[in-house]
Amino acid sequence: MLSSTIRASLRCAAPKQTVVRSLSTWSQVEMGPPDAILGITEAFKRDTDPRKMNLGAGAYRTDDGKPYVLNAVKKAEELLLAKNMDKEYLPITGLAKFTTAAAELAYGADSAALGRLAVTQSISGTGALRIGGAFLQRFYKTQPTIYLPTPTWGNHGAVFRDSGLKVGSYRYYDPSTSGLNLSAMLEDIRALPRGSIVLLHACAHNPTGVDPTPAQWQDILKVVKEGQHLAFFDMAYQGFASGDADRDAAALRLFVASNSMPVVLSQSFAKNMGLYGERVGTFSVVGADTAEKDRLLSQIKILVRPMYSNPPVHGARIAAEVLTNEQLRAEWLDEVKLMANRIIGMRTALRSRLEELGSKKSWNHITDQIGMFCYTGLKPEQVDRLTKEFHVYLTRDGRVSVAGITSGNVNYLAESIHNVTKD
Ligand SMILES: Cc1ncc(COP(=O)(O)O)c(C=O)c1O
Repeated sequence: MLSSTIRASLRCAAPKQTVVRSLSTWSQVEMGPPDAILGITEAFKRDTDPRKMNLGAGAYRTDDGKPYVLNAVKKAEELLLAKNMDKEYLPITGLAKFTTAAAELAYGADSAALGRLAVTQSISGTGALRIGGAFLQRFYKTQPTIYLPTPTWGNHGAVFRDSGLKVGSYRYYDPSTSGLNLSAMLEDIRALPRGSIVLLHACAHNPTGVDPTPAQWQDILKVVKEGQHLAFFDMAYQGFASGDADRDAAALRLFVASNSMPVVLSQSFAKNMGLYGERVGTFSVVGADTAEKDRLLSQIKILVRPMYSNPPVHGARIAAEVLTNEQLRAEWLDEVKLMANRIIGMRTALRSRLEELGSKKSWNHITDQIGMFCYTGLKPEQVDRLTKEFHVYLTRDGRVSVAGITSGNVNYLAESIHNVTKD
């Protein structure tokens, strides 16, 4: 038992929170803002209205609004389980069976670049971008700048800044047409300093859902080539845009086949294989020949080793199994098509419903845009009303994850959007 004097002195000595804080080494660390998307999910979870919809998160949902584990993935996992494999470390650059198959999927199985491609497994697409940023910071000019489209995926700027690159931008989206501003894009790329790094979304541009047409990609290729720029492709949605993995890789393959500029690629299997939390991706650099590829790969290993040593094994084994087992691959490609088509179907339904409701606005862009996201053109105040009055959650730039719309809630969404846009 403590004596009453000791108890009293402990009470006096008991540090108040403020005292502890001022003594802490971290007292100057300020509270950071919450992540925009995760903040939306938190607010959505707190909402108890049964009509609530979360259209913020970029993850595929079934028509029942549920997460979807692909059948091909489930079957691959069963096959892996039966093999009773160990959990030893992978090499620094990951599972070769996976990286080889992933590169073939991206560049095309008959691509001449495959033999001179330095490819490493990565922590999904974000990790690939991060390795890419670090690689360019170390080996591409001094203090290089990467130019991102406006707008772009919210994490791009932070990833590349944290990799030590400078970040600039080029115009991409035209709010007046809800489409591509090709002339401004070409003008901006033309004006960049020679040898700049230009980040291009390979397909299903996030957040706008606006992709260049094949003819427009030819124009973009021309200006990138003229400026002797480096093309950094970010391909996070291969197959997800059109339902056809080869078609969605056409821009990347066009640039590589032109052999007229350095090309690097970040590739993700989060969306197209539904492997979000498994973190499966690749980063690759197209080398000039096999000797150059070997040199590039040796340096990529030196970069990766102190970052995370080697990548996780399970997701890469799943993806390798799906990509190399003929039956599973066919089933997977069907499922990708199914996901893409459900999204395309929801776009059509949303637009028709808005038109049926008598909306005076044009909603053509809902079906013109492609991929997981629709840039609705809603203003921040309209988004606020959607959330407050109708329990529909989305980012304030008006981006909707079409993957979160279902046959059961599309009418309610259309009515809600019509309500906030009709005045
Ligand atoms: C354009 C783009 N790049 C990269 C990523 C990275 O995704 P992950 O790290 O989950 O593969 C995303 C995810 O939303 C994206 O939209």
